[in-house]
Amino acid sequence: MSNDSPFRAGFGKTPPVLVGRDALLRDFGDAIDLGSWGQERVTLLEGLRGVGKTVMVNALEDVARGRGWVVVSETATPGFAARISESHLPRVLRDLTGPPERRVTAAGFAGASVTTQLVGKNDGVPTLRTQIADITDLLDGRGILFTLDEISLAAREDLEHFVAELQHAIRQDREVAFVGAGLGSAITDLLAARSLTFLRRASRQLLDFLDYEDVLTAIGKPIRDAGRSIDDRSLADAAAGTQGYPFLAQLIGDLAWRANPQNPEISLADVHGAYRKARRTMGSHILEPSLRDLSNTDRTVLAAIAASPGPAKVADLRRTLGVEPRYMGVYRQRLLDAGLIYPVRHGVVDIALPYLREYLHEHVVSDATTERARRRQAFPPPPALPDAVSGEHSGDAEAP
Ligand SMILES: Nc1ncnc2c1ncn2[C@@H]1O[C@H](COP(=O)(O)OP(=O)(O)OP(=O)(O)O)[C@@H](O)[C@H]1O
Ligand SMILES: [Mg+2]
Repeated sequence: MSNDSPFRAGFGKTPPVLVGRDALLRDFGDAIDLGSWGQERVTLLEGLRGVGKTVMVNALEDVARGRGWVVVSETATPGFAARISESHLPRVLRDLTGPPERRVTAAGFAGASVTTQLVGKNDGVPTLRTQIADITDLLDGRGILFTLDEISLAAREDLEHFVAELQHAIRQDREVAFVGAGLGSAITDLLAARSLTFLRRASRQLLDFLDYEDVLTAIGKPIRDAGRSIDDRSLADAAAGTQGYPFLAQLIGDLAWRANPQNPEISLADVHGAYRKARRTMGSHILEPSLRDLSNTDRTVLAAIAASPGPAKVADLRRTLGVEPRYMGVYRQRLLDAGLIYPVRHGVVDIALPYLREYLHEHVVSDATTERARRRQAFPPPPALPDAVSGEHSGDAEAP
């Protein structure tokens, strides 16, 4: 029996089965194939921490590579534009025009005559613009995909320069595509920047939580593919424990797998143990980092929202906290931007991340569910455990 877990718990790790993202993968592939200026050729992915942005960026890169495109992949930290033009693109050019053997076998389409012709074409100091022009000429019909993960305005100058060149290349009908990814707040900031208005035409894709059926697949299939089994009840509890959160799908799957790797079947007890541990990990890996960036007042407002058993009226919060409407608006926006709360309807907000409410209560109740999950009727509540996750507070008011 193999001890090797098929699951990929942790950030940026491609899951064994990528569920729930088929439409996006297909639309992007189509945009590349059609050669029209399909809107998806410039795509912005946004979503909460741990929802699968990096994994999706990687999957879209694979789509482009599968069509013979060159991929240049960066993280949006200051200096990324220089890294692209001083390191990535020279490497791509070398690969395309390098020694003859390589040219023929690896690239397979850059003939010697084309190369000689092009080398002299843009002499002088290469810029992002001339590099993109040279490379797309050499690629002859195929193109370059640029990807930029963890977008934020911390790299604003680079973004301005890069986006201007991207816009130029697109205007010239060059075969280029761009995929950027970041938290919703960062994408909102990006689109608000006047110097980046070009990006407002991008296809903006919200990566959401997964549907229940998809989570069953995300957890069940890797287990079976790797030669073990899990019964329906245990799989159902494992899936319910994720609340549709991709990060938890890998983590709960992984922990359940490792509980008793020598057994051919993953048991209900393995799943419940995994669920308990995963909720603790969720606190240290997702919730704490999300809270770290908040001011004390933001946190107080968040705690007040968490204190209400379900969605909270902003007007009530304002009264409870004794803050003026315009300040309340600022806190509300910051918490929305951080992806910690979401608007239920006008004037009503609720906690967005699974188990955050419980975390903020500083204890975790065994049968607690988030209002977000209740709203998404299709998703069953998290499994009830024989005893409370934190080992205390089993008599919480929300217990059935
Ligand atoms: N569609 C999916 N199906 C199954 N598992 C997924 C899916 N998307 C992401 N995951 C898993 O979720 C975890 C988090 O993914 P990822 O690192 O891409 O999130 P992220 O949105 O980039 O997070 P961050 O905002 O912190 O950068 C990984 O373990 C990954 O394997
Ligand atoms: Mg990421």
